[in-house]
Amino acid sequence: MNVVILAAGQGKRMRSDLPKVLHPLAGKPLLGHVIDTARELGASRICVVYGHGGEQVREALSAPDLSWARQEPQLGTGHAVVQAMPVFAAIACPRSGIPGTQSASAPTLVLYGDVPLIRASTLRRLIKAAGSDKLALLTAHVDNPQGYGRIVRSEGLVTRIVEEKDADDAEQAIREINTGILVAPTAALARWLPALGNRNAQGEYYLTDIVALAVAEGMPVVTAHPDAAWETEGVNSKLQLAALERVHQRNVAEALMEAGVTLSDPTRIDVRGELVCGRDVDIDVNCIFEGRVELADKVAIGANCVLKNCRIGSGTRIAPFCHIEDAVVGPEGVIGPYARLRPGAELGREVHVGNFVEVKNSSIADYSKANHLAYLGDATIGSRVNIGAGTITCNYDGANKFRTVIEDDAFIGSDTQLVAPVTVGRGATLGAGTTLTRDAPPDQLTVSRAKQMSVPGWKRPAKNSNPKKKD
Ligand code: UD1
Ligand code: CA
Repeated sequence: MNVVILAAGQGKRMRSDLPKVLHPLAGKPLLGHVIDTARELGASRICVVYGHGGEQVREALSAPDLSWARQEPQLGTGHAVVQAMPVFAAIACPRSGIPGTQSASAPTLVLYGDVPLIRASTLRRLIKAAGSDKLALLTAHVDNPQGYGRIVRSEGLVTRIVEEKDADDAEQAIREINTGILVAPTAALARWLPALGNRNAQGEYYLTDIVALAVAEGMPVVTAHPDAAWETEGVNSKLQLAALERVHQRNVAEALMEAGVTLSDPTRIDVRGELVCGRDVDIDVNCIFEGRVELADKVAIGANCVLKNCRIGSGTRIAPFCHIEDAVVGPEGVIGPYARLRPGAELGREVHVGNFVEVKNSSIADYSKANHLAYLGDATIGSRVNIGAGTITCNYDGANKFRTVIEDDAFIGSDTQLVAPVTVGRGATLGAGTTLTRDAPPDQLTVSRAKQMSVPGWKRPAKNSNPKKKD
């Protein structure tokens, strides 16, 4: 099957410099959703008609399986589909000799780049209705048909589509509307498109005029309908974008709950990517999941966490307000509240990372703990290590970064600075307040601080009782 995605329109009502189809829904451009749905259908050729926003659209989404056709200027939906026809070469230029018989015999599906939530299941029904020799329209019966093309029928059969601006009063009263999505035999489309005119209220080449041409040829025109109204809703404004975002998030939340995930409030979760959950996963309110996130069995995520591209091992509890990105957390861990795991953080089994602890590009092996106020960057930390409050790896000298190695069973006293590159040996203890600049040997206490002393007779400074005024 061939797919044409119309994405050349400007989207003035978005009031944005970003081309409309690049505005994100669930973290992915609107057009990206439509392209992915076309892929889900197993389309053999996908051609995106772009125009407004120019190469920005193409650059944002280019992929080996996509063809691009630029429409400039934009003279209507019929004119837009014309631009895509050379991609299905054998049809557009039958004598060109370019092999393309496959795309000639396959039907062509027309989608809109600003209608992001259309479902593959609905499109499969439409494609089935079209078969190989019919024109199939996706239509819907609505209470308020305003703004849409109307489906005109005679004795039950579709005879044409009339655009709202061209419709008379009787036609305006029709409640069956054109969603714009259709399937046509490709060879017929190639025949009809050059015959389209633009003598209408908007001076545009209407794709919808192919319906009357099909009827004139005696080709059957059939219809199919979406399961839900939101599937065919387009985005023309930020309001509509937000509304469809909520629909999408509700769908994601419902799918998660059906798969057994407990959501404290299904209206307060945002998944901007792929969230894969094991059994008995529990997610509290206001969490955001980006990229690909995997939560193993019995993981609990506290309120207000942001997780991006990470894997959380089974039984691990993430307390509220954690931020985790490009990181791996092992099983039975306790993370947060207020922990930050940055790219390259890899935590083993039963690791505890507490409040205001930042971990970057570091591994922390099984049963180790950093429970309070620490920065662990570019560090390799062994098993059963205790990192005291206020510990900092000084990994950066202003020009280069160096690693800190802390071997198994080490105990790092509070308020320690580890000036990398440096190694703390197995079983070593660092006294609180140590600034470690050389390796600490295994099994010994290493401490670097001035000796404690008390100054007899020392008095606190007192306030001057008759202060002179200074300028
Ligand atoms: C179109 C249909 C109308 C249908 C409605 C559904 C026509 C003539 N009318 O009307 O029957 O009810 O969609 O929303 O087809 N586009 C281009 N190039 C152009 C013009 C449009 O790529 O020159 C793209 C737009 O970016 C958009 C889609 O085609 O994705 C539809 O365009 P739009 O202007 O919204 O069509 P409507 O006039 O609303
Ligand atoms: Ca529209």
